[in-house]
This record gives sequence, C-alpha cells and structure tokens, in this order.
Amino acid sequence: MKILLLMFVLAINIYANNATHSFAPSTDCKECHKAIYNEFSTSVHKHSTPQKDPIHKAVWDKHPQKNKKEQYGCGKCHTPTANNLDAMITKGKKALPDANNTTHQAGISCAYCHRIESIELHKRSNTNIIAKEGKNYFGTLKNHVDSPYHKIKTTGNELMKNGNVCIGCHSHKMNKWGLNVCSTNIDNEMNGKNCVSCHMPKVKGSVSDFKDTSEHAFHGFAGTHHYSDMLQQYVKIDFKKHKDSFDIIIQNHSSHALLLHPLRLAVFKIVITRANKTIPLKDTTFARVIGKNGKPAMPWVADTTLKNTMIQGAESRIINYDFTLQKGDKINTVLGYYLVNPKVLKSLNLQDDNSSTKFYEFKKSLFKF
Ligand code: HEC
Ligand code: HEC
Ligand code: HEC
Ligand code: HEC
Ligand code: HEC
Repeated sequence: MKILLLMFVLAINIYANNATHSFAPSTDCKECHKAIYNEFSTSVHKHSTPQKDPIHKAVWDKHPQKNKKEQYGCGKCHTPTANNLDAMITKGKKALPDANNTTHQAGISCAYCHRIESIELHKRSNTNIIAKEGKNYFGTLKNHVDSPYHKIKTTGNELMKNGNVCIGCHSHKMNKWGLNVCSTNIDNEMNGKNCVSCHMPKVKGSVSDFKDTSEHAFHGFAGTHHYSDMLQQYVKIDFKKHKDSFDIIIQNHSSHALLLHPLRLAVFKIVITRANKTIPLKDTTFARVIGKNGKPAMPWVADTTLKNTMIQGAESRIINYDFTLQKGDKINTVLGYYLVNPKVLKSLNLQDDNSSTKFYEFKKSLFKF
C-alpha cells in the first residue's frame, strides 16, 4: 500500500513538472490559415520574449534571476514552447532564454494555445496542461472540413468555448510575498462577453484556404499595444452638467480593470474650446502602484499595493470639474495611456523606446454645450 501511494505521489510530481512539450512551429500554419497567421504575426503573443519585447526585456534585465544567470521563471507564460521549459522554471537548473533557439522565440504560439487541454488552478499562478498528442488542435468550429495536416477536436473543450483558455496565464501572478502583481477578473461573464469575444472578435476573411468562410476570430489580440480601437466600444464617456460645475463619467464595461499591468498609467485629458480660445483643464491619472515600505518597488520586491486609482471592472468613475460652462462651449476629451509610467522610464532604461514613451489615445469624445 505504501509503495503504491509513493508511486502515485511520484506520478503526480512527474506530471506536474513535465511542462516541456514539442510544438509544431507557427510558420507551418501559414500555408492554410493565411489571414489568421498574418494577424497573429502582429500580436504581442508572437513577441512575448525578452528578445522581441523591449518592455519585458527591460524588467527582466533588472530581475535578480537574470543577474545570477539562474532560471527564467517568466518562461511559464512568456516562452511556453521552450524545449527546456522544465529547466527554465526549476530552481538551480540555470536555463535562460536563447535568441538562437527557435523554440524559445516562438512566443505564445498557435499550436501551444490550441493544445491547452485543461488548466490547474494554483495560488501563485495557474498551469496549462498540454494535450500529449501533437497536431490535434482544440477549437470551436461547428461545421468544418477535415484538415490534411492535423486533427480537429471540437467536442468537449469547454475552455475554448467559454473563453477560459486564456486564464492559465492571465488570471493572476502572485509574488513570493503574497502580492498579486497582476490579476484579471476571471469571473469573466459580462453581458455574455468573455476574454475571447472581446479580444478576438469575428472579422472578415476565411478561417482557412480550404473552405470559404466569411469570417474568423481575430488573432491579432486587441489590447493596449495594438488594435485598441476594437475595444473602444466597451468604455463609454458621458457628460453631465451641474449649475457651477460638470461631471465626466467613465464607464468601464469590461469585466476587469481598465489596465492590468502595474507598469501602466492611464490619463484622462480635457480641453474646453470657447470661441477661439482653448482652455485645458487638469489631467486625471489612474494607476495601480505596488511597493514596499511606502515606496514604489519592482514586482519581485513589492509586498503591498500603495495606491490604486485604476478604474475597476464594471466601474463608473465620476470626475467632477469645478468649471462653469457657457453656451457654445465645446468639450474635447481623450482617454489614453502610457504602457510604461513615465516616472519609471529612466530606471528601466526605456527613455528611448518608442512603444514605452508614446501616449496612446484610446478614446476621444466631443460634447457640445
Ligand atoms: C503566470 C504567467 C506569467 C508569468 C510567470 C510572467 N508573466 Fe509577464 N505577463 C503575463 C501576462 C498575461 C502579461 C500581459 C498582461 C497585460 O498586458 O496586462 C504579461 C506582461 C508582462 C509585461 C508587460 C509587457 C509589455 O510589453 O507591456 C512585463 C514587463 C512582464 N510581463 C514581465 C515579466 C517578467 C520579468 C516575468 C518573470 C520574472 C514575468 N513577466 C512572468 C504573464 C506572466
Ligand atoms: C494543410 C492545411 C492546413 C495546415 C498546414 C494547418 N491547418 Fe488548421 N485547418 C485546416 C483546415 C482545412 C481546417 C478546417 C477549416 C474549416 O472547416 O473551415 C483547419 C482548422 C483548424 C482549426 C479549427 C478547429 C476548430 O474546431 O475551431 C484550428 C484550431 C487549426 N486548424 C489550427 C492549426 C494550427 C495551429 C496549424 C499549424 C500548427 C494548422 N492549423 C495548420 C487546414 C490546415
Ligand atoms: C501561455 C500564456 C498565455 C495564454 C494561454 C494567453 N496569453 Fe495573452 N498574453 C500572454 C503574455 C505573456 C502577454 C504579454 C506579452 C508581452 O507583451 O510581452 C499576453 C498579452 C495579451 C494581451 C495584451 C495585448 C496588447 O496589445 O497589449 C491580450 C489582449 C491577451 N494577451 C489576450 C489573451 C487572450 C484573449 C487569450 C486566450 C484566447 C490569451 N491571451 C491567452 C500570455 C498568454
Ligand atoms: C467586455 C469586454 C472585455 C472582456 C470580457 C475582457 N476584456 Fe480585456 N480589455 C477590454 C478593454 C476595454 C481593455 C482596455 C483596452 C485599452 O485600454 O486599450 C482590455 C485590456 C486587456 C488587456 C491589456 C491590459 C494592459 O494592462 O495592458 C489584457 C491583457 C486583457 N484585457 C485580457 C483579458 C482577459 C484575459 C480576459 C478574460 C479573463 C478579458 N481581457 C476580458 C475588454 C474586455
Ligand atoms: C492565445 C491563444 C491562441 C493563439 C496563440 C492562437 N489561437 Fe487560434 N483560436 C484561439 C481561440 C480561443 C479560438 C476560438 C475563437 C472563437 O471561438 O471565437 C481560436 C480559433 C482558431 C481557428 C478557428 C477559426 C475561428 O474563427 O474560430 C483557427 C483555424 C485557429 N484558431 C488557428 C490558429 C493559428 C493558425 C494560430 C497561429 C497563427 C492561432 N490559431 C493562434 C486561441 C488562439
């Protein structure tokens, strides 16, 4: 009995640690899924590695694991197809991402996502369980032709259907001090919307070159780096006048906070045009600042949230302006963001990186009074 029990425990351990699998390269898919492949090529999922994402690199460069040339724990989500992923995420193994290893540079690849069979829920971060059989892809197509290259599994994959296939990596990441560095509200049903329907909306173009379909799920993954225009509809800006002041109401209709990564800074700008004069009013900023001992700190040092003014999921935030409007006034507003809070650009050596310093205009509105 004891031996049996021991074998069982060992089996679980081997299973849990066996994160390494081999995956067909995404370029294999290009031949038949051209539209999807081209969109994916522009996405952050394709460019999630330190060699391809300057912001990820900047933070990784400061990480104690990098400086000790130890493991690359980030690999679990940032280089999940690495052929030595087990070593990368195991203490003491010394395995870092390599620019010349194609399995390290594939990002969150086509085959990786389409082989997520189940997700184990854990306190620090969840774990994707990958189907052992290669070239057997999960999907949601109801009527499909057969593929000469791979098998298609549509039955029983609830994860693909309900949009939860994303939460193995996106639900949360807790550091060793018990602080959730980043978390998405995974209770993600929102007026019938989920991660997939908001971030992968249906767009024109065929699923494959074998059968003409009018639309497919967008694989550029609308987000803060790219295609944010596809998400504008989920944030509404309203205006309400009072006697000597007025309100702006920002309604976040998504299931999670407006921005999720603690590096981000959202800014709401407002300018009144009166006759030929422009009158700028004060900017309002939204951020979640993590830190230690009362000071902002890196994600592996921080043990608390110092300040959180970020607009939360399903929240309506009211900003009051102590300003008396006159007939004919025009109110121009912009809700936008910096991917990297300007205050930390220098300490991360990102002051010359365009994607980090740029102000992204997410949603513009004009109200006439
Ligand atoms: C549990 C999965 C997971 C792990 C482990 C992980 N990340 Fe991430 N990381 C993500 C997800 C998901 C995002 C996208 C979040 C967003 O955009 O809000 C992300 C985004 C980032 C970004 C923002 C990138 C950009 O271009 O704006 C940085 C920086 C980053 N991660 C650094 C790291 C570092 C450094 C490590 C390892 C020490 C790490 N991450 C480990 C899941 C993870
Ligand atoms: C030789 C052509 C060919 C290649 C190469 C190919 N596919 Fe497909 N794939 C198809 C066809 C055909 C379909 C069915 C399309 C339809 O019925 O509209 C399909 C469907 C799919 C589906 C949909 C499953 C569903 O139920 O929603 C997924 C996922 C998929 N392929 C993933 C991949 C991935 C990942 C790769 C690369 C590793 C790849 N395919 C390479 C031909 C191909
Ligand atoms: C294997 C882990 C993993 C899985 C699974 C995953 N993601 Fe991601 N995702 C990431 C990482 C890592 C990043 C950040 C990459 C970077 O910027 O370096 C990211 C970034 C994003 C972004 C930000 C895009 C932008 O322009 O800022 C969106 C949106 C996103 N993912 C949506 C999804 C959706 C939807 C799914 C499920 C269909 C999904 N992800 C599944 C790891 C994952
Ligand atoms: C109702 C629509 C909706 C749903 C559901 C939704 N999102 Fe979002 N998501 C948004 C909007 C809107 C933004 C903000 C985009 C912007 O400001 O450019 C966003 C931003 C993001 C970002 C980028 C955040 C950053 O800091 O860079 C990631 C990553 C993301 N969502 C992942 C997810 C995941 C994973 C799920 C499912 C658990 C999900 N979203 C569910 C609408 C949605
Ligand atoms: C981050 C995870 C993720 C990645 C990476 C990814 N897919 Fe998908 N893919 C999905 C999800 C989720 C769906 C289901 C969309 C739906 O139900 O609306 C899907 C749907 C599909 C479909 C069926 C078409 C449709 O409209 O439903 C095909 C074919 C496909 N993917 C191929 C690919 C190929 C090829 C790549 C790489 C070029 C790729 N996928 C990369 C998550 C992913």
